[in-house]
Amino acid sequence: MIERPRRLRSSPAMRRLVSETRLHPADLVLPMFVREGVSEPVAISSMPGVVQHTTESLRPAIAEAAAAGVGGIMLFGVPEHKDATGSGATDPNGILNVATRIAVAEAGDALVVQTDLCLDEFTDHGHCGVLDASGYVDNDATNQRYREMAVAQAEAGSQLLGLSGMMDGQVAEVRDELDAAGYANLALLGYAAKYASAFYGPFREAVQSSLEGDRRSYQLDPANRREGLREIDLDVAEGADIVMVKPAMSYLDVLADAAASSPVPVWAYQVSGEYAMIEAAAANGWIDRRRAIEESVVSIRRAGADAVLTYWAVELAGWIR
Ligand code: PBG
Repeated sequence: MIERPRRLRSSPAMRRLVSETRLHPADLVLPMFVREGVSEPVAISSMPGVVQHTTESLRPAIAEAAAAGVGGIMLFGVPEHKDATGSGATDPNGILNVATRIAVAEAGDALVVQTDLCLDEFTDHGHCGVLDASGYVDNDATNQRYREMAVAQAEAGSQLLGLSGMMDGQVAEVRDELDAAGYANLALLGYAAKYASAFYGPFREAVQSSLEGDRRSYQLDPANRREGLREIDLDVAEGADIVMVKPAMSYLDVLADAAASSPVPVWAYQVSGEYAMIEAAAANGWIDRRRAIEESVVSIRRAGADAVLTYWAVELAGWIR
């Protein structure tokens, strides 16, 4: 036998030396929830270990993420009052914009403060956009709201806007608005290939979404791989500076395709349900928690993600160091 692949697996030092994929804290982004009108952080039962922060508890949590060396945070707002157009999203005193100002002041140059640019956290019907008379999500009217939301987030100091609403043309519309408002240098993260996934389940609790029905008229069908690439291409053509594949673990083929063809960085979002599954199995003693977390994120990086949004970002960064 000439070929003996096991030679390179023979010791921990040898395995470390030949490892093809490494994790680094700078390639991790921590999603964070900030809730309006609460005086203490609120636990999210379906995401053990994750909380809805108050504007006060947000500060030390950002300092902790910065100390761990994570590359960025992604902020989500949980407003006290929701309405049909999601007016809290464009109010300078709305929770997400308030939290962004606090986060930018706290973070300094240590990490990139990013904001979710989508209406679902702010609408009473729970959809990512505004509805027409028949109850259908109105693409072009929603893009108008995204334009306004983008300027509000830019004014609050957000350093990267995460366009997660899946409206057609959203990247081009927001880019146009920001350029006209003097924010030509503000970068856009396009959630290009975002699938209509059951794995967002716990997130609905995290942002107290009242959604009835589903998002299948705007998010992608899990069955479609080619369409994911089409969305990546469109977002790049519209000016996205980074594109996203979401969720991560069930879409590693789409991620690998995107990584092979995209001229801009490709990120992946390890979503709430992916987090909850591993936490639940580990809590039952059915899997080794740390190994499962590390393996899941290494796999996402191996498939081609340049950076990973994960609720374990801070803990994982601590292990990597
Ligand atoms: C939309 C948005 C969602 C998530 C992130 N941004 C929910 C959805 O599209 O249904 C889900 C993230 C997660 O599940 O961790 N604002």
